[in-house]
Amino acid sequence: MDLPSLLLCILVELLAVNCLDMAEERIVGGYAPVPHSIKYIVSLQTTDRQHICGGTLINKYWVITAAHCNIGVDKMMVVAGDYSLSIYEGTEQEILPQFLVPHPEHDALNNNNDIMLVKLRAPVYLNSYVSIALLPKQGASVAEGRMCRVSGWGYTSSSGGQIPSTLRTVKIPVVSTEKCNSTESFSGTITETMLCAGFSNGGKDACMGDSGGPLVCEGRLYGVVSWGRGCAEAGFPGVYTAVSKYRRWIDETISSYYGRCDNN
Ligand SMILES: *[C@@H]1O[C@H](CO)[C@@H](O)[C@H](O)[C@H]1NC(C)=O
Repeated sequence: MDLPSLLLCILVELLAVNCLDMAEERIVGGYAPVPHSIKYIVSLQTTDRQHICGGTLINKYWVITAAHCNIGVDKMMVVAGDYSLSIYEGTEQEILPQFLVPHPEHDALNNNNDIMLVKLRAPVYLNSYVSIALLPKQGASVAEGRMCRVSGWGYTSSSGGQIPSTLRTVKIPVVSTEKCNSTESFSGTITETMLCAGFSNGGKDACMGDSGGPLVCEGRLYGVVSWGRGCAEAGFPGVYTAVSKYRRWIDETISSYYGRCDNN
């Protein structure tokens, strides 16, 4: 650690933040948010508590994540109200899914339609640690350059490292589809239902383990972490499922379930 970082660390230590965390990169290029300030995020885990993916609560019974996070309903557990995955904080709510609705046209080869709804067996309790994210309107778009927040418990660099135990977050700008789909970047592999975000020089990005998690712009869930090339590489922003293109599918899926005369 160099002198300026050391001095900054001493200052930060006074503010009771863990200095060691600063020396490492988490979500790539991000930082630890105030505990429990990002309340809509959930950790999707195996039933033996291995973190697999992120997700976002959109109401008490439903979570949005990526279709490529589908490990099977019997193997999955949803944890809301979490911050450190390795410490029991007393704020966690562990809920089993009742069923999964991956998008029927999800294509694992080109990552198209990488979105999945998870219906919970029991409602989450909304409290000061757990809340929901608002959805954008069908077809709404965010302008190039608008800053969005991506959060997760994913890798700190593309070379792997380890899943960080505390949540990380970073703000990145929206990149135009034109730029993202150009030959200098993803060369024609970006579809209408994808959204790109990241700095042209790279350095800040989501990474493995952040998949399925939220990209929030203008207070709404505009993106689901989907894919990329490495993590935080210059010229290759992160690629997200554009939630606004699925608003109708989301609403129809949820209401078709409630239309089936169940008691909740
Ligand atoms: C991306 O480029 C490919 C190849 O040029 C094109 O077929 C596709 O429609 C483009 N995607 C968008 C969203 O414009």
